[in-house]
Amino acid sequence: MGDKKTRIIAIANEKGGVGKTVTVVNLGAALCRGEKTVLVVDMDPQFNATRGLGVDIEDGMLTVYDLIKDNESIKAADVIVSTRWEGLDLIPSNVDLSGAKVELIDEVGRENRLKEALESIYGEYDFILLDTPPSLSLLTVNVLAYAKEVIVPCQTHPYAYAALDGLFDTIFAIRENINTDLSITGVVATLFDSRTRVSHNILEKLKNDERYADLLFDTVIRINTTIAESAGVGKPVVFYRKRSYGSSDYISLAKELLSHS
Ligand SMILES: Nc1ncnc2c1ncn2[C@@H]1O[C@H](COP(=O)(O)OP(=O)(O)O)[C@@H](O)[C@H]1O
Ligand SMILES: [Mg+2]
Repeated sequence: MGDKKTRIIAIANEKGGVGKTVTVVNLGAALCRGEKTVLVVDMDPQFNATRGLGVDIEDGMLTVYDLIKDNESIKAADVIVSTRWEGLDLIPSNVDLSGAKVELIDEVGRENRLKEALESIYGEYDFILLDTPPSLSLLTVNVLAYAKEVIVPCQTHPYAYAALDGLFDTIFAIRENINTDLSITGVVATLFDSRTRVSHNILEKLKNDERYADLLFDTVIRINTTIAESAGVGKPVVFYRKRSYGSSDYISLAKELLSHS
């Protein structure tokens, strides 16, 4: 066990396409640029965070699936891989992870598998950021059972805004029943398009809604094609194009997160 005070943060939203994975990858990279050590845990079978960090799944490579399936013989250290950026490590995922949902169903204590598997690395990183799949599966519950904090990306779109309420209920239910240490650190508005009325409208709603106003990060993540482009080449935008909106937005989010400790 290292001596750092690790912040364990889930990036969660049951809706897909709201910027969870992009936030995990780029917030992680921005924290790393700010000299923090970061472990990204990819809990989505679609492994977009793994790809976004430029890690290829090779044959026989261990993934988070092996860790939660058989945590007796496989240790966290066996599944952690380095990315090409120092201080930014990854526990990769792959499609096998969808099998874990099924296989874990009848096992006792199944929601604590990830927590048990990662307990031993507490203190080794400044941040552990966990990406989640777009559904409330056992995989997501494993993440929320282990995390201490949640960051909720909310696309500046009416459906995403409307779905926040249900998501908060889910998080509160997990806090009540499984993980009393869990708290919501913030909501970050994503995919903001300043040219559209709808983006401005939803941002205003978030700012004026008493349920979310205090939790809303000042940083708004704008739509930026460089973000999608950087994902395509397996590089976080803060390393791919330092002078892009995408890069400056995620660097700003990282600074805010550091001030929220
Ligand atoms: N700020 C942004 N600007 C442009 N494209 C973005 C931005 N954030 C996310 N995207 C793109 O939107 C899609 C959904 O984002 P993603 O992070 O994969 O969402 P989720 O993980 O919530 O499903 C992806 O194609 C991603 O590249
Ligand atoms: Mg995703």
